[in-house]
Amino acid sequence: MSPAEAAIRIEELTRELNEYNYQYYVLANPSVSDYDFDQKLKELEALEQQFPQFLDPDSPTQQVGGDITQRFKTVRHRWSMLSLGNTYSEQELRDFDERVRKAIGNDFEYVCELKFDGLSISITYENGILKQAVTRGDGTQGDEVTTNVRTIRSIPNRLKNNGYPDLFEIRGEIFMHRPAFQRLNNERIENSEMAYANPRNFAAGTIKLQDSAEVARRPLDCFLYFLYSDNRNKLFKNHWDSLQAIKKWGFHVCEHTLLCRSIDEVLAFITKWEEQRLSLSYDIDGIVIKVNDYGQQEELGFTAKSPRWAISYKYKAEQVETVFQSVSYQVGRTGAVTPVANLKPVLLAGTTVKRASLHNANEIIRLDLHEGDTVYVEKGGEIIPKVMGVNFLKRVAGAQPIIYPSTCPQCSTLLVRKEGEAVHYCPNDEGCPPQIVGRMQHFISRKAMDIEGMGHETIDTFFKQGLLRNITDIYTLKDKQDVLVRLERFGQKSIDNMLAGIEKSKEKPFEKVLFALGIRYVGETIAKKLAAHFKNIDALASASKEEIESVHEIGERIAESVNEYFAEEVHHSQIELLKRHGLQLALIVDETEHLSDNLLGKTFVISGVFEQFSREELTALIEGHGGKLLSSISGKLDYLVAGDKMGPSKLAKAEKLGIPIISEQDLLQLVANTD
Ligand code: IVH
Repeated sequence: MSPAEAAIRIEELTRELNEYNYQYYVLANPSVSDYDFDQKLKELEALEQQFPQFLDPDSPTQQVGGDITQRFKTVRHRWSMLSLGNTYSEQELRDFDERVRKAIGNDFEYVCELKFDGLSISITYENGILKQAVTRGDGTQGDEVTTNVRTIRSIPNRLKNNGYPDLFEIRGEIFMHRPAFQRLNNERIENSEMAYANPRNFAAGTIKLQDSAEVARRPLDCFLYFLYSDNRNKLFKNHWDSLQAIKKWGFHVCEHTLLCRSIDEVLAFITKWEEQRLSLSYDIDGIVIKVNDYGQQEELGFTAKSPRWAISYKYKAEQVETVFQSVSYQVGRTGAVTPVANLKPVLLAGTTVKRASLHNANEIIRLDLHEGDTVYVEKGGEIIPKVMGVNFLKRVAGAQPIIYPSTCPQCSTLLVRKEGEAVHYCPNDEGCPPQIVGRMQHFISRKAMDIEGMGHETIDTFFKQGLLRNITDIYTLKDKQDVLVRLERFGQKSIDNMLAGIEKSKEKPFEKVLFALGIRYVGETIAKKLAAHFKNIDALASASKEEIESVHEIGERIAESVNEYFAEEVHHSQIELLKRHGLQLALIVDETEHLSDNLLGKTFVISGVFEQFSREELTALIEGHGGKLLSSISGKLDYLVAGDKMGPSKLAKAEKLGIPIISEQDLLQLVANTD
């Protein structure tokens, strides 16, 4: 390769790798397999060695990636968080073993560990108490996420037994078990919230949440795998002994860790887990091999980026080739159009795969997908497999590219795509059949109106029969019994049961009805927040975008969507009809709850997790005594009621403004004192 060609290739690889790094670390949404990433990085490294004149100090080969965001305090690591060298073949691993032998001789052991596919964390303990937890960031400094990490049940806030150093740092991997991921992600999909692609992204997204109460609701776990302290070498001879001690102090250490005496034992461990990895409840992407003895680790030392005494062996994600047959465009209840590839059935990781996700129009362009292409399909922690790429060598001559449709495949309306969004929507929400049916199915679902005796298929049949056109028609079914009895498979008993279920749904509280309306981005939690704040649908319907946004944790995207919903006349007439049918479109205010005027004129903000009362109870207490709740901290605020795990930025703001910070006990005192 000539220097000129090398310069062009180096520039190209640098640009690609930087983009991959950004997608991996910042968006937590990798667009390339680890294998492909490492191949490109290796190619760049080799070129930079051959042509050092083109080595850029900011080259991806000189960095370890970064995930620092703006919202958390940035903290320097006491011991930098290095990454590990990767190997992909037996030969590369034997080369590593050879290098180790050359440096320290033949008398040593390896500790083999699973390589957990999560996000790494460094936790500091002082005198047995958890003091600080920091993400890896760029390896030198990371985000301080202590409050969120404290909510993880398998990470002790206070250590057990004794014998631990006064001050130490422990490293580990935070992750989510696959069954929990699937359950929570399904809930998100049901609530039309953004779904995560895999458990690692879910865990990464969770640890970066500002609301630690929400973190606490999501079941994260953490395996710890490394100890740092100034006096570590006095306490333990080797890594293995430190792991045994860590376990005794109350940390979660993976039980599959193994002490090996030769590289062949290491290779047997690798093969065993390559076969059995799917039987684990969490994702692993390889094996980590560490020289056990601390003295020998020191002898081996470090390169600029990683230790010479450890390496990882990465499994290739299970990938198969198959023929792509067609694309189905599914239209969801919110009008989002999702392309799904139909494939020639193929066996992958123990199941037959017929369909794979294509995400959106950009993805189809990125893949450069053509009719009849042979594609690579991969399965990670995802629910449905992904099309990773096209085998261009097998492209059929003259094959036409796949063009994303410009109109809705169900109702032919021109599709729209908002600026900055990847997803296309069909805007014909009142006339597009899958949207109408999907909305009604959502309305009756368990978490919404929970109508007994009515299922998804009932809605489908009734829609086809012309009995239902929108959610309000559900409440007119009782007047159409003569038609109902004539339908196949509908006996009088099931009709009675269904009508009773419909009547009963009228008792559902406002927040459920609001969720049931199916406003885009208004999931269960958001509906609860909006209902508690606005108290009735009319107040919400007439609220400005800014007013909606001022509600705790409601962002611009949600506020905009609520506004758009109420901008449509048809929704107002539907709501009027629902009111007439007797549905709860306002909170039921119990007059007896007015307890006193002791807090009259006082304003409060509630934040954090409380021991004795729930947030709703505290709200009722404050309002019952005449106090008012505000959505954000400002100079106008009288009190901040602070629980555990509240965001550090809020606390700092209140302190800066000199606002009294009170506990739930103080609040009770306040109510009683003024009596
Ligand atoms: S040891 C210097 N052990 O893999 C020691 N890392 O590429 C470095 N990882 O950033 C870490 N499982 O996030 C170690 N059993 C394990 C691991 C592990 C997963 C991750 C970790 C690290 C990356 C290294």
